[in-house]
Amino acid sequence: MALRNIREIGDDILTKKAREVKEITPRIVELIEDMLETMYEAQGVGLAAPQVGVLKRIVVIDVDPGEEPNPIILINPEILKVSGEQTGYEGCLSVPGKSGLVTRPNYAKVKAYNINMEEFIIEGEELLARCLCHEIDHLDGHLYVEKVEGDLLSNEELQEKLEAAQEEMEQ
Ligand code: NI
Repeated sequence: MALRNIREIGDDILTKKAREVKEITPRIVELIEDMLETMYEAQGVGLAAPQVGVLKRIVVIDVDPGEEPNPIILINPEILKVSGEQTGYEGCLSVPGKSGLVTRPNYAKVKAYNINMEEFIIEGEELLARCLCHEIDHLDGHLYVEKVEGDLLSNEELQEKLEAAQEEMEQ
């Protein structure tokens, strides 16, 4: 396994549509292993192949990276159903040090293939639903910054906003 370079906003590859995976080759397996290592190293909760410069429809997610990694690997993911709404701050490894307010579905049902090219269904709410939608957007060349309400915030500005919201709740 090896760490891959994460492409950042402004890189053309992040605006391109990724292609379907037709078969699992040793190169694909290596790519997925590298994507997982890269995601954990960067402390992200999701990573899409275009973010490491590969235009293939592959996503890795781990919304609960505790002591034991619990990765979800999605090949050729496809959103079947969404419902509800959630608004919250979102970030992306390709937009380092920034975050912004994005409204997403609160529930998503996704069809994908695993590393044996067996079809499976995954359903998620809240953070997992947000993550599924965010990562699948990457496969179609979209970044969350297109959907941000208001300004992109720096880490410091985000911290201030969260503290202000906390104070308001306490009053
Ligand atoms: Ni992202």
